Amino acid sequence: MKIVKGVAFVRSKSLQEGQTGASLVLGLVFKSSRGAGLTTEYSARLWENPEKVASVVRVGGLVVAEGQEYAYNGETQLRLSRVEPLNATEEEVRSFVPKGTADAEEGMGRLRTYMESLGDPLLRQFGLNMLDDPEIRIRFPSAPAAKKNHHATLGGLLDHTLEILEMGSRVAPVLSLNRDLLLLGLFLHDIGKCWEISSAPGFGYTDEGRLVGHMLLGCEKTTQIARRIKGFPERTLRILHHFILSHHGEFEYGSPVLPATPEAMAVHLLDNLSGQVNAMRQVRSQEGDQWGYEKNRGAYIWKNGSDPSSWDQTAIGGGDRKVFDP
Ligand SMILES: [Fe+2]
Ligand SMILES: [Fe+2]
Repeated sequence: MKIVKGVAFVRSKSLQEGQTGASLVLGLVFKSSRGAGLTTEYSARLWENPEKVASVVRVGGLVVAEGQEYAYNGETQLRLSRVEPLNATEEEVRSFVPKGTADAEEGMGRLRTYMESLGDPLLRQFGLNMLDDPEIRIRFPSAPAAKKNHHATLGGLLDHTLEILEMGSRVAPVLSLNRDLLLLGLFLHDIGKCWEISSAPGFGYTDEGRLVGHMLLGCEKTTQIARRIKGFPERTLRILHHFILSHHGEFEYGSPVLPATPEAMAVHLLDNLSGQVNAMRQVRSQEGDQWGYEKNRGAYIWKNGSDPSSWDQTAIGGGDRKVFDP
């Protein structure tokens, strides 16, 4: 397996005690050779002088690292032979943070166009007031949608939200859904991520994120915005809370309530579709052979699956196995 060598960003650090002694486990992000802006992440392990190295390596900083790839639990990890801290400017560290696809200003503009298109004046006002909220204006454009699994990029929340708004506005007439409610539910569903996950390199959970999570944080902001609109109906506020609280779809996935309206079900499923497809894409962009492993689902991903021109073109009956007659 190949040797990996270069500058890496330290996403996480922990000392672990095992049967073979203590080791240092680092989450290292290298710039990928597959294209500008792409990164490759390894769980990397060091057995020599783990305590000493741990005391000089800082989470959120850069290191020079060298190690050999090895397969472990379906995942490619690194056995480190060298790790040294590197003095780096903030800009150099930032260059290791993966970025989303939408231009922040243009993306926020598209979000506004969706909110302006809502037919119900009260819901439209709510949506636009949310967009004009000073905290949202600062946080939403750069927030990641997840720490790791999908849309884990600067601006990932914006990419993810625009994706599902586009799907939602197409699906609404097909399924006779209330477009206003659906689109507002989609905009709000993950809005609490603005406070749950830090957009600083490493995308760590914030203290409030760990303590209460993005659903409560999103509900709080929703209440705050609704209360500032004179005469905003309490029932409408509860429906907006419901979109946020039910969007994970199952108790096991952290939703305290299950979707109780067709629009809430659609928010959950569109969110899931966007997240699952993006998680597969992320595996596809990893270096290595044509199969990648998606840890979250415990499933292998065939990276060539979307590109028939890369498939073996041997005609039926022409291969080694004579299952089909020519
Ligand atoms: Fe969520
Ligand atoms: Fe989401």
